[in-house]
Amino acid sequence: MGKVAQIESLPLAESGCEIPAHVAIIMDGNGRWAAGHGLPRIEGHRRGVESVRRTVRHAGERGIRVLTLFTFSSENWSRPKSEIDDLFNLLRFFIRNDLAQLKANGVRIKVIGRREGLPRDIFDLVRSAEAETAHNDGLILQVAFNYGGRDELVRAVRRVGEKMLAGELDPADFSEKVFEEHLDTAGVSDPDLLIRTSGEARISNFLLWQLAYTEFVFLPVCWPDFDEAAFDAAIAEFHSRERRFGGLFHG
Ligand code: IPE
Ligand code: IPE
Ligand code: MG
Repeated sequence: MGKVAQIESLPLAESGCEIPAHVAIIMDGNGRWAAGHGLPRIEGHRRGVESVRRTVRHAGERGIRVLTLFTFSSENWSRPKSEIDDLFNLLRFFIRNDLAQLKANGVRIKVIGRREGLPRDIFDLVRSAEAETAHNDGLILQVAFNYGGRDELVRAVRRVGEKMLAGELDPADFSEKVFEEHLDTAGVSDPDLLIRTSGEARISNFLLWQLAYTEFVFLPVCWPDFDEAAFDAAIAEFHSRERRFGGLFHG
């Protein structure tokens, strides 16, 4: 907790703080937040949706270009069916309830993750949210739903293999750049900053390729308690880091 409090005291707005272009967030700790308040887990997830709204708004205010949110992982299928149903219902609710506002605010929605095996109505909702906001040029809200980094890599490798077998791609032309074009995140820059709430310090199969040079900030707050001050604290921490990308210090 101490670290967040310290960073919070930095006057972010006046400090000429470098703003990360792309922030990715592992929104963790809804269940623990609920348990801590003597409430069922679904209440934590509901409060988590309010945090999402706050975070999207603040990302826009801070001039962040891309915000990627981890909402449901490939491995979350191992949770009880009732919780999975709750999480899917919250996604339905969020898209139906918030899409008009997001659209009006210029947000472009992009969903990454495996689409096969999703309930038909979710598939359709996701597709229409993307189509309806495709021409917006504000914040890119990249929603990782039914997403796993390994699953994304395997699907990408399969597509590359199919193209090679079909004679559409020469193995000699294969490169990091070509590979990236086959990922779900094609066309979107890698995250500059990864934030994980709840105090856990692991990436849980998130964006395995894209996080190669991302700065990690692990915060001890549960996701429903993540607010503007905590977000600014993470940005200030990012600003204080020295990124080298394998090169030498140029300070
Ligand atoms: C994050 O909160 C939401 C999802 C993973 C969908 P959790 O549900 O993982 O909450 P904890 O980790 O059990 O506290
Ligand atoms: C990561 O959180 C996935 C999401 C936030 C959607 P988990 O709660 O599933 O991660 P683990 O199980 O603690 O690693
Ligand atoms: Mg968790």
